Amino acid sequence: MKTKILEEFKTRFGTEPSLYASAGRINLIGEHTDYNGGFVFPGAIDKVIMSAIAPNDTEKVRVFSIDINEYAEFGLNEDDVPPQSWARYIFGVCREILKRGGTVKGFDAVFAGNVPLGAGLSSSAALESCFAFALNDMFNANSIDKFELAKIGQSTEHNYCGVNCGIMDQFASVMGRKGKLMRLDCRSMEFEYFPFASDDYELILVDSRVKHELADSPYNKRRASCERVAKRLGLETLRDATIDMLDSIRTDITAEDYFRAKFVIEEKDRVLAVCDALNKGDFETVGAKMYETHKGLSKDYEVSCEELDFLNDVARECGVTGSRIMGGGFGGCTINLVKKDLRDKFIETAKEKFKEKYGHEPKVYPVVISDGAHKVEE
Ligand code: GLA
Repeated sequence: MKTKILEEFKTRFGTEPSLYASAGRINLIGEHTDYNGGFVFPGAIDKVIMSAIAPNDTEKVRVFSIDINEYAEFGLNEDDVPPQSWARYIFGVCREILKRGGTVKGFDAVFAGNVPLGAGLSSSAALESCFAFALNDMFNANSIDKFELAKIGQSTEHNYCGVNCGIMDQFASVMGRKGKLMRLDCRSMEFEYFPFASDDYELILVDSRVKHELADSPYNKRRASCERVAKRLGLETLRDATIDMLDSIRTDITAEDYFRAKFVIEEKDRVLAVCDALNKGDFETVGAKMYETHKGLSKDYEVSCEELDFLNDVARECGVTGSRIMGGGFGGCTINLVKKDLRDKFIETAKEKFKEKYGHEPKVYPVVISDGAHKVEE
């Protein structure tokens, strides 16, 4: 990938670029809790978006996407928004840095990636974080702190891509560290690195290949439900809500809002239970919580789909320790906590059964927890 990017850059622009990369992410547990002030438990993975970038002494950004095979060119003013949706992520990052008083000048870029698109592994956060990190290094002497870089990515989603996402994906993409998951408190923004290493278990992603698309999706509606309930309870977010409080207003809110909030309140506690269990090396409890999350996401939050429920059932039948839909939902992957000696059997069975039912095999990716945004040494 690196060579391909550098060669393409040389052919198109002929100057000497620097290389930057940022990662996709997994999340062990804590789904749809970030925008509710709750906890999440993500980590960066070994799949990245990588870009070669060099200032071009103009006021224009010229960028080529190898994977989409498309070129875009845009200025840096608010009304210069490019028509290509992929270029809006980069435009948004530039604008958000400028809005915060940072510097962005014209630059040339060529990028590519191996984060599967629409698989719920946050390829868009990887793209935003790669450019936010690069432009901070290139034009701002790294004066913008890393948290702010994550927020720049998040604001890009809100203001230029139509997704009212939380902070988890960009946070994981920027802050990720090899071999470590991170427990983030999305209210105080305090976080802790947790080593994730086991001789007996590993994490495996099974990609249903149902494309998930969050823009204009029911994702924003889920968030609106949570905000309505929090407001009704007189709270800023559902972070401080309990099931008793929710039950006390049950007749005043819609059944849909009730079940959305119920999931979030329960999920918040599951993240803490999983941290405790991990500290004790109790993977059975971690796994049991993952199954509970899947059930909640499927039945109460309603962000699963038939294929993902099927994959979850197959995992359970195979005796997999934990399995659940991962990320925003509406397609993408399940994340599975699998005993190493069951690994091959599980993958084989999942592929076989899925193909029998849906006519194609799911893709399988082992999870390798890796570093987040960084400059790539040549
Ligand atoms: C998407 C969003 C995140 C988070 C997850 C669900 O990935 O971008 O902010 O809300 O969905 O946990």
